[in-house]
Amino acid sequence: MDKIQDAIAKARATRAQQPGATGSSAASKGNALWQALPSHTPSQRRLARNRIVAVETSRRATDFDVIRTRLLQQMQANNWKRVAITSPTAGCGKSTMVMNIAFSLARMEEHRTIVAEVDMRRPSLAKSLGLPNHHRFADVLAGHSPFEEHAARIGDNLVFTTNDGPVHASAELLQSARTGQTLDEIERLYAPTVMLFDTPPMMTGDDTMAFLSRVDCVLIIAAAEQSSIKQIDNCERDIASQTNVMGVILNKCRYIDPDKAYGYYG
Ligand SMILES: Nc1ncnc2c1ncn2[C@@H]1O[C@H](COP(=O)(O)OP(=O)(O)OP(=O)(O)O)[C@@H](O)[C@H]1O
Ligand SMILES: [Mg+2]
Repeated sequence: MDKIQDAIAKARATRAQQPGATGSSAASKGNALWQALPSHTPSQRRLARNRIVAVETSRRATDFDVIRTRLLQQMQANNWKRVAITSPTAGCGKSTMVMNIAFSLARMEEHRTIVAEVDMRRPSLAKSLGLPNHHRFADVLAGHSPFEEHAARIGDNLVFTTNDGPVHASAELLQSARTGQTLDEIERLYAPTVMLFDTPPMMTGDDTMAFLSRVDCVLIIAAAEQSSIKQIDNCERDIASQTNVMGVILNKCRYIDPDKAYGYYG
């Protein structure tokens, strides 16, 4: 386990040392690039229909704001930037969680968040947000297209890069050296403070396992009355063999508290 932690720390330190990875010059260069990305304004009705409630401060947004703040505290304490969100099985609420955390982060001016859809088997973010349906982040990762042709900016400090449909041989793409280089390049150029990755479920293929070494930490979304303790345990163990487990969020809880749909176990 120590070896893994050492390897993760080394990879992070290498990324931090890349020219332009940190500092105000990277940030100002990044600013111009952010402004140049095509902007998108999602409709309120579409957001509400898809349970995206954290766009503005409200009582319903509070659960996500709490998760955002705990996430930021852990990230800052550990110098983490890349967070993957996964779950044991399908439909636990990963994509909904990613979008709500992203909008919650976007209400903090000092943060710049890039959300990347690496769920290439059942991509859903473009539909939920009404984003252009010709975007294909897989082509960016494969080195076939530039990032700016497959990314949309919402407001000043939130960018989504998504996929217009299922991607062939996604596990091979996600573990290719090219994917690692492309992600490093996006991070270097755009200087985000947070990168969120919406990944597929752990138990439905090897895509997420193939990608985990590229992130600093992972948030697991379990669904009440759906995810078993054994599934969550296995998931945690598999993730811990590759990177840091940030915590488990119990989603879709009906019986905790009428006002709270989430339980967080750090
Ligand atoms: N807290 C919640 N309470 C009730 N329904 C929810 C909650 N979170 C998400 N959902 C609903 O559950 C369904 C699945 O959510 P979502 O698409 O976010 O899950 P997912 O884990 O990304 O699924 P997939 O594995 O297919 O990518 C959606 O209809 C979503 O609106
Ligand atoms: Mg999803």
